[in-house]
Amino acid sequence: MSASIKTLWTETLPDPLPANPLLLAAQWLDQARIDAAQPNPNAMVLATVDSRGQPSARVVLCKEIAAEAGFLAFYTNYQSRKGRELLANPRAAVVFHWDHRRRQVRAEGQVLPLSDAENDAYFRTRPWQSQLGAWASHQSEPIPARADLAAAVTAAARRFGVPYRGPGSEEPAQVGVEVPRPPNWGGYRLCVDAVELWVEGEFRIHDRARWTKPTTDRPDGNSPAAWAVTRLQP
Ligand SMILES: Cc1cc2nc3c(=O)[nH]c(=O)nc-3n(C[C@H](O)[C@H](O)[C@H](O)COP(=O)(O)O)c2cc1C
Repeated sequence: MSASIKTLWTETLPDPLPANPLLLAAQWLDQARIDAAQPNPNAMVLATVDSRGQPSARVVLCKEIAAEAGFLAFYTNYQSRKGRELLANPRAAVVFHWDHRRRQVRAEGQVLPLSDAENDAYFRTRPWQSQLGAWASHQSEPIPARADLAAAVTAAARRFGVPYRGPGSEEPAQVGVEVPRPPNWGGYRLCVDAVELWVEGEFRIHDRARWTKPTTDRPDGNSPAAWAVTRLQP
């Protein structure tokens, strides 16, 4: 571990606390990317709750922290377990943990699906192999054998005219064929109305603060209200 990271053990939250916690969260994510101390610095645990009140959690990749617009974006399969839970109960919580920086970010809020245009634009940026995978995998559904998945990828390639010869074959970066987005694949924005920033302190005397703002019924989910902040005991 580098000396500069070691000294962060004594880090505290900025004084005064920032007016918009998502700006600092975005800086922390940028910093974790630069550090390259973990393969997926944008990984976050996403917790959802089903219609019976049962929580479930899994890791997804945060593709954007839009600090001014007040949301985080992630992509998935709308018919997955998380997609079904978000349909029944469109609220979620996420947690980032950058262990090497002794930092944690928690965020909560209302979840809205991204638009078709936003989903199409992002899907186009994905490698063709991932695009085929999105067609092949009915995420969270049972499958009898792993070979069935490989067969589903090959079938998707055939359907869209992608010259893919199966697992293990040499693959070009571009195939010159556009794979459309499956209608059940897309993203969500988590319209954040609560954020907690946490930094580790010596002897477990950590530094924590929680920002909240009223939930809004605006269609973009972005409450124009200012954040209220409270420091919390560790
Ligand atoms: C590092 C990492 C990144 C992941 N990123 C995503 C992602 O961006 N979207 C996604 O749907 N699943 C992602 N997954 C897989 C999910 O954790 C999960 O297995 C999958 O979404 C199915 O979850 P569900 O059955 O609760 O819907 C990722 C897993 C890991 C470990």
